[in-house]
Amino acid sequence: MRSELLRLLKENSEHYLSGEQICRQLGVSRTAVWKQIQSLREMGYEIDARSNAGYRLLSVPDKLYPEEVACELSTRVIGSEFKYRFRVGSTNEEAKIWARQGAPDGAVYLAEEQGTGKGRLGRGWYSPPGEGLWFSVVLRPGISPAAVPQVTLLAAVAVARAIKNETGLVAGVKWPNDLLAGIKKRKLCGILTEMHADMDRVHYAVLGIGLNANLDPATIPVELQDIATSVAAEAGARVNRVSLLRCILRELDEWYMKWQADGPVPVLEEWKAWNVTLGREVKVTSVNNEAVVGKAIDLDESGALLVKLDSGDVKKFMAGEVSLRGN
Ligand code: BTN
Repeated sequence: MRSELLRLLKENSEHYLSGEQICRQLGVSRTAVWKQIQSLREMGYEIDARSNAGYRLLSVPDKLYPEEVACELSTRVIGSEFKYRFRVGSTNEEAKIWARQGAPDGAVYLAEEQGTGKGRLGRGWYSPPGEGLWFSVVLRPGISPAAVPQVTLLAAVAVARAIKNETGLVAGVKWPNDLLAGIKKRKLCGILTEMHADMDRVHYAVLGIGLNANLDPATIPVELQDIATSVAAEAGARVNRVSLLRCILRELDEWYMKWQADGPVPVLEEWKAWNVTLGREVKVTSVNNEAVVGKAIDLDESGALLVKLDSGDVKKFMAGEVSLRGN
């Protein structure tokens, strides 16, 4: 009922809506309406109440409430269900618990803040309250474990497209999971895909996305200042996190469906259009800490990175850390 009331208040935000009209439209009592108005106010919605006039919505809080995010989302799979907490350790960890309990394909776990946000390769992820988009999506694509890295690539494409649509900012995609922006190519977004699988079948994957939306680079830990940036810092204005998140979820939905219907080729083509890795001299550090220097020449059909070494040999990386060198 709270979502219905909110929808009604939003549709009529130009004027006051009488308690009686609300009761009639929602088929509930005045006391029930009053209780829900109070609960919305506690959530941060500013609602004016005037005797003889009724209620009017004055402002919406800058929070990632599922009621807001799901509003007019119209996706097919992504956003099938939502969970929201103000503060968690890691949304990926929470989403894994939820997946074990049966979360459906496309379920989204959102938080305003993470105390122990996880990055790749055992690193942490700085996730202060209200400044970013820290969320995880449970996916059940019915694929083999070898295809899971493609989920990271499709997510990078979805986020890059959404940022461009919402703010005009063009981010570059660095293999396998980073979105970079600005002349200094600092990191805007990181993606961590984890899975629970048998040898030949994925039970579920958890796609974790950390996007520095409104972070002020001047306030981030010193050790990150040279390597991290945010959409707001690069686009020159704060972003509406709810609209940006909705846009990301719609893009994810589209690319997730396309990937399942048509295979990896369209995703890989789109990824190449956004990439800042191919054609560059790179240093790739593999998971067992061996470093290789060469030219990133292509992705193979599975999404693995192909690097041409000085010897002329081409080495294939399924995972690893890439640093860009030179121009
Ligand atoms: C990386 O670039 O190292 C990946 C960072 C992934 C961070 C996101 S934030 C939401 C989700 N929950 C986590 O604990 N990590 C991912």
